[in-house]
Amino acid sequence: MNGHRSNGSRVYLDHAATTPPDPRVVEAMLPYLTEYFANPSSIYVEAQQTRRAIDEARQTIASSVGADPGEIVFTAGGSESDSLALRGVVGASRRRARGGAASGNPVHIITSAVEHHAVLDTAEQLERDGVAELTILEVDREGRVDPAAAAAAVRDDTVLVSVMHANNEVGAINDVAAIARAVHEANPRTAVHTDAVQSVAHLGANVDRLGVDLMTFTGHKLYGPRGAGALYVRAGTPLAPQILGGSQEERRRAGTEDTAAIVGFAKAIEIAADEREADLSHERALQQRLMTELPQRIAMTGITGPADLDERLPGNVSALIGFVEGESILLALDLAGFAASSGSACTTGSVEPSHVLVAMGVPDELARGSLRFSLGRGNTDEDVDRLLTELPPIVERLRALSPMPTTEPPADWQPWLAT
Ligand SMILES: Cc1ncc(COP(=O)(O)O)c(C=O)c1O
Repeated sequence: MNGHRSNGSRVYLDHAATTPPDPRVVEAMLPYLTEYFANPSSIYVEAQQTRRAIDEARQTIASSVGADPGEIVFTAGGSESDSLALRGVVGASRRRARGGAASGNPVHIITSAVEHHAVLDTAEQLERDGVAELTILEVDREGRVDPAAAAAAVRDDTVLVSVMHANNEVGAINDVAAIARAVHEANPRTAVHTDAVQSVAHLGANVDRLGVDLMTFTGHKLYGPRGAGALYVRAGTPLAPQILGGSQEERRRAGTEDTAAIVGFAKAIEIAADEREADLSHERALQQRLMTELPQRIAMTGITGPADLDERLPGNVSALIGFVEGESILLALDLAGFAASSGSACTTGSVEPSHVLVAMGVPDELARGSLRFSLGRGNTDEDVDRLLTELPPIVERLRALSPMPTTEPPADWQPWLAT
């Protein structure tokens, strides 16, 4: 794979997993990997230079999401930011309940069934630890949370509602503004967190327009470096730090800052804002073609997530292909030169269907045939042509190998397959 472009032999279709760094980002980072290495917390002049670089990056990142610089906590990525949001709010709320000492009572938190595991697993761990009671919201067949259902689940002791902005597997965009409004009306003390890891690049998430108290985002989904993330924390939102030690990030996250990664993150977010319109129309055009033509070229195939592009993450094409395992297709695609992804997780040798598809109501067997293509800046019409030419014979070959009949889809598959 050549830089951020696909080249003659390889086609990169996995931008939702991570994006290739923009050369301008790398250029901005280089001095901080070489010459300007000083610990920003030290007092000498070299440290003042790295401190200034971090301050400027914080300013850029804050203003790109409509926040004040003091409301940005740098982390090592989306997973850490999600974890800090959930654990931080639960920890601070329990302490506050007893004037400093953690109270013995669990607090109530709410999330949705289709969150990234960084949120879902943390929420479930908090429940297992006895510090939180957890309500998990269902989603509709396109993967979205109903704002009214979120509000209806809020209790007097609900300290946090965490609902993602755009889903990483099926691309469903939630109406986070409506969710936050409804939740705050139901209980003004409840904090609302959104995981905007997938959306910030494409949709330019603004914390006031979304009405959220906490927001997760990360550099490597927007052509920045891996290992640099941020948590927006609205002023006044209680947050207990989860990494203790130094006084960095106003005591909300200890540890010597990765100056180069933070500078790269800021450069990437600046470029994303400048080039958003161009990126959007480019990705939407390719996305529309693939969403339309995949089911035309391969029988017993359907697209998951919202059909309406305005309600769908730009670049995301998630599909179900009957009578084949997504993992087998991915291996064959890899050999043919394509990097793509599936929603299923291969654990201990058996393929588990994606929790997102299961929550949307996709039958387990069909969910095993899921694929996700996520298009980005460097993709071209030729990439889509190549995929549309090379994928159908791969599916045909794999279906021919199946010991089961592969011509009659079960009745419960019908609503998920294109007619
Ligand atoms: C929606 C969502 N949240 C969180 C994460 C985790 O982010 P990171 O890889 O930066 O830890 C991802 C990454 O795939 C994601 O898609």
